[in-house]
Amino acid sequence: MTTTITGRTVLIVGASSGIGAAVARRLAPAGNRLVLTARRAPELAAVAQEVRAAGSACLDIAADALDPEAAAGVVATAVAEFGSVDIALLNAGQGPDMAMDRVSTADVSRIMALNYDVVVNYLVPLIRQLGEQPDGGLIAHTNSLAGLMGIPRQGPYSAAKAAVRTLIDAARVELAPRGIRFTSIHPGFVGTERVDADGLPKPFQVSQERAAQYVVRALEREPAQACFPWQTTALVRTLRALPAPVSDRVLRLLAAR
Ligand SMILES: NC(=O)c1ccc[n+]([C@@H]2O[C@H](COP(=O)([O-])OP(=O)(O)OC[C@H]3O[C@@H](n4cnc5c(N)ncnc54)[C@H](OP(=O)(O)O)[C@@H]3O)[C@@H](O)[C@H]2O)c1
Repeated sequence: MTTTITGRTVLIVGASSGIGAAVARRLAPAGNRLVLTARRAPELAAVAQEVRAAGSACLDIAADALDPEAAAGVVATAVAEFGSVDIALLNAGQGPDMAMDRVSTADVSRIMALNYDVVVNYLVPLIRQLGEQPDGGLIAHTNSLAGLMGIPRQGPYSAAKAAVRTLIDAARVELAPRGIRFTSIHPGFVGTERVDADGLPKPFQVSQERAAQYVVRALEREPAQACFPWQTTALVRTLRALPAPVSDRVLRLLAAR
């Protein structure tokens, strides 16, 4: 068995490719009920087909997470079909290469929407739903190690991910008495199609299958924060502990590679 998560209803937002699709494939042989959503219907349907073939029930719903009503509709449909949401993985997001001397204010707002609003639009209806369930539930977010510090050429993305982490940190403390648990997952570089094409340097990159292994382990253990791989995590922690003039210099060198 690839996971101890079995017989659960798992909503994955951003399941048509990359890490989200790999997590769906990893949960599929364990007899779960998966609700998969993303914008691209054909890609999503293909992942759903694989999930059903591997042994889990699966609902695929094409929806834009930027639309709050559509997001609330996905949560409502999941509950109508399967009765509850036990685990939600809010995984939609993207961090393109963005030099601060070339971005427009609209670019920065767009990246904020693509990484922050897409989470909030699910967070709100999920908190209402999980708060009504006798056993509460888990809300996990695919953050990034870039959410732990300002990464050059990824400033707007780092800022948006940091904002989500802060929101989730507050929600975790506030909602623990109601049985709602929160996990922020911080991957380093993962070799997905999108990332392979962006031209940024990617030290210690892991495959999307390996990333899915880490993510599923985090869903099983439910830590407040899960970071991987250890090499990039250690690098980020060290940079955060160094005085700013030293860490700035290291980051400048890494970004120039
Ligand atoms: N790859 C990395 O190196 C890396 C590192 C750290 C963190 N992350 C994070 O991991 C998550 C997954 O990224 P990935 O690398 O696996 O890239 P990906 O293949 O582009 O996956 C992103 C997923 O989110 C969906 N999505 C994006 N915008 C959406 C929207 N508005 N509404 C609904 N679905 C939306 C995409 O599907 P549609 O386009 O079909 O909507 C896709 O299924 C992201 O949050 C990313 O920030 C990635």
